Parts: sequence; C-alpha cells; structure tokens
Amino acid sequence: MSGKLSFKLRLWRQQSGSSKGAFQNIEVKNISPDMSFLEMLDEANNDMIRKGDAPVAFESDCREGICGTCSLVVNGLPHGSEPGTTVCQLFMRKFKDGQTITVEPWRAKAFPVVKDLVTDRSAFDRIISAGGFISVNTGGAQDANNLPVRKSDADSAMDAAACIGCGACVAACPNASAMLFVAAKVSHLGHLPQGQPERQRRVLRMVETMDDAGFGNCSNHYECEAACPKNISVEQIARMNRDYGSSALFGSEIERGNSGG
Ligand code: SF4
Ligand code: FES
Repeated sequence: MSGKLSFKLRLWRQQSGSSKGAFQNIEVKNISPDMSFLEMLDEANNDMIRKGDAPVAFESDCREGICGTCSLVVNGLPHGSEPGTTVCQLFMRKFKDGQTITVEPWRAKAFPVVKDLVTDRSAFDRIISAGGFISVNTGGAQDANNLPVRKSDADSAMDAAACIGCGACVAACPNASAMLFVAAKVSHLGHLPQGQPERQRRVLRMVETMDDAGFGNCSNHYECEAACPKNISVEQIARMNRDYGSSALFGSEIERGNSGG
C-alpha cells in the first residue's frame, strides 16, 4: 500500500478528573499506512497546535510494546482490535481510508482520568509495592546455576512475567477487575525458587491492596485475556486463587504483615 490515508477522529477531551468530558471531532490527512497509531496522534496534535488548539494529552514511552504506558481504547477495544498488540505497535494500514476512529481513555474507577486520554494507574504501583518483589541479601553476583530452576517452571514464570502492566485487562473487564494483572505478577515470582520465602505474604498483600484500590471482582468474562497485548492466560488467575486460598487458610498474621513484620 503506498497512498496516504485520511481519518475522522473522535477524541475524548477532558480538562481534568473533576471536569466533564466530551468527544472532539477532527480530521487527519496525509497519514502514511506505515505510521503507528501514536505517530498518527502526533500528526493530529501537530495540526491542532498549528491551528492554535490545545493538543490531546496521551501517554507513551517505549513505543515498542514493552513498557505498558500507552493506554488507549480504540473503537471500543483496549489497544484496538489487533490481537496481542499494544496501541503503540498498531499500524494505520490496519484501518480503512476515511474510517471514523474513536479514541478514549481506560475507563475504570481505580484509574481516574488525569486529562484527556491520560489516566492515573498508580494503583498498579501500589499493588507491586505491596508484594511484587523478592527480598535478597545483596553482595557479589552468584553463579547462574546456584539455584537450579526446572525448564517448565522457568517457562511458566516467563509467560507470566510478560505482563507489561498496561491495564488493558482492567479496561476490558465489565467489573474493572485487575485479577489478570495481579495474577501475572504473583505467578511469575511464585513459579521460581527465589519467590518461595515470601509467597504467602505476597499474594495476601497484593490481593488486599488490589481490593483496597477499588478494582472489581472477577466473574469469569475472560475479556481480560482477549484484550491482553501479551497474551497472559486466565489460568494465572486460577493459580493465584489457589495460592490465595491456601495462604489465607494457613498464612499467619506475620505472613500478612499485620504484626509489624
Ligand atoms: S495482564 Fe495483560 S492487559 Fe493486564 S496489565 Fe498485564 S499485559 Fe496489560
Ligand atoms: S509505549 Fe510502551 S508499550 Fe506502548
């Protein structure tokens, strides 16, 4: 495809979290089919700036599908309709010339809008701070084979670790549940020997922090898995539920961290 493309954009504009938002209709022209969705938005912003209008606020960082910063609902779907693709890796050749494209922010109580298409996803940071780490003594680097890890465990841990923390699972879920994200973060450490000492405390604290942040419950819609750009499986949720159940039954107050531990 070599011709340039034009699109009618419906962009969500909202001055702040406390103000009422509305769609703004604009047209973008001369868009290369090889531009990414974010580059197309850059062009739209350049046009708006040239006309003296305020550019639309949106987030991005790596633009190569690894940081989880880009967070846009495109035509009703988090990250758009291409499976296993972040919106920064979505290319304009996937859209029809002249198509109307609606762009909205993640919509979830726990992700309040900051401005336009930017939401506050610090709730995810609080969940990671609650337990998404391992505690180790620092010092000289150990030999890589000091702690042997079975290939199947390493593969499972890597599958879970592919989560980039983008929040599309929350945006796609009718309950705005964060279970897929939390399950991926719990599982990737839970599969490894290094993750065992804090395993019970980790799952209890992360789930409790998730609940406090205002995310909804999982009721098995599986929209999270369909929207996830990293193909995280809902099997991770089942695994976390088993971990949580046994930790809640057998975990001590010290494991929960309620006694100052
Ligand atoms: S589970 Fe998938 S959709 Fe959810 S935060 Fe991780 S990468 Fe994004
Ligand atoms: S900008 Fe980093 S994943 Fe899209």
